[in-house]
Amino acid sequence: MFELAGSELAELFAREFELCAVNSAETVVVLAESGSRPDYVAAAFAAARRHGAAVSVVTLPAGSPAPLPSVRTGTGYGLVSLDANRPVLELLKASDFVMDLTLEGFIHAPVMGDMLSAGTRVLYACEPPEILARNMPTEQDKVEAQAAAQRIREASSMTITSPAGTHLTAGLLDSHPGFQCGFTDDPGRWDHWPSKMALCWPDGDHVNGTLVLAPNDIIFPFKSYVENPVALTIEAGRIVGVDGGREAAMLEGFFADCDDPEARFTSHMGWGLQRTADWWSLGMYDKENVMGMDGRCAEGNFLISTGPHPFKDRHTPYHLDMPLRSCSVSLDGVAVTVDGRLVETVAG
Ligand SMILES: [Fe+2]
Repeated sequence: MFELAGSELAELFAREFELCAVNSAETVVVLAESGSRPDYVAAAFAAARRHGAAVSVVTLPAGSPAPLPSVRTGTGYGLVSLDANRPVLELLKASDFVMDLTLEGFIHAPVMGDMLSAGTRVLYACEPPEILARNMPTEQDKVEAQAAAQRIREASSMTITSPAGTHLTAGLLDSHPGFQCGFTDDPGRWDHWPSKMALCWPDGDHVNGTLVLAPNDIIFPFKSYVENPVALTIEAGRIVGVDGGREAAMLEGFFADCDDPEARFTSHMGWGLQRTADWWSLGMYDKENVMGMDGRCAEGNFLISTGPHPFKDRHTPYHLDMPLRSCSVSLDGVAVTVDGRLVETVAG
């Protein structure tokens, strides 16, 4: 792990902005909150200037009224201070590119839809410098992630199994396949630096089976490795049973405290494509200083989540991301991962 000097960070952000096609004809907003890393704000500002864009920095008041249980970093529910600030929202919608350096991100916030449908490209980043640098994307990452998403688009069902006992099926009709590749150069598209994954949003009515979290799988936002297996029973996209040891009690407590029926439904799912991800990095940082994209997008993982579902009009803030390491994922019976390893043809 390392820190980067200002000039080095500016160089890193400049490369990232180049991938995002930021140019001298564009307007860029660096969106921050009072707790954002000032060195990232400065580096993003410098990168936009380097590419000749018209840039401004907007710093919003931090935090949102804390729901119970807390949603914490990376759940993407956004800052309520933006909802109350119409001029800033209009600025974001009118801009070409937004570098989102808020701690929470806005991916699951209703205002994100407003920004994207206005054509704004939005990139979110909050990981430490070492994780940004190690997972620096390339143009080829987009090609590969798009190819993987296309595989989902062409399939009618996804099956996930694992030695720990997972056997889950998901219907893929109208599942809105998508991808993340660590940069965004298409109008109206959100992405996350770093990330590389294929994902979809299956209709809950067609998600059924058992998901077993095995030791060393990860549960976000707890940012912890599983120690005792947890078996989740899923019927029509709803988690109806949580069985196991300490982590099972933790998850059941979480769902109970949410007191929100939407929290128990499945959300996006897919598999990771990031070759440079370090599964174990989560064990090397203070939880407040890391979001966990290494685990979320590690090549060959199976990532499943709960809560919000934009295509089913569910906007609950309660979002669990659960990457599993040793699953086999197949599309219409054709393997895309085997025991947590990517089948090479998928990568293109
Ligand atoms: Fe997620």
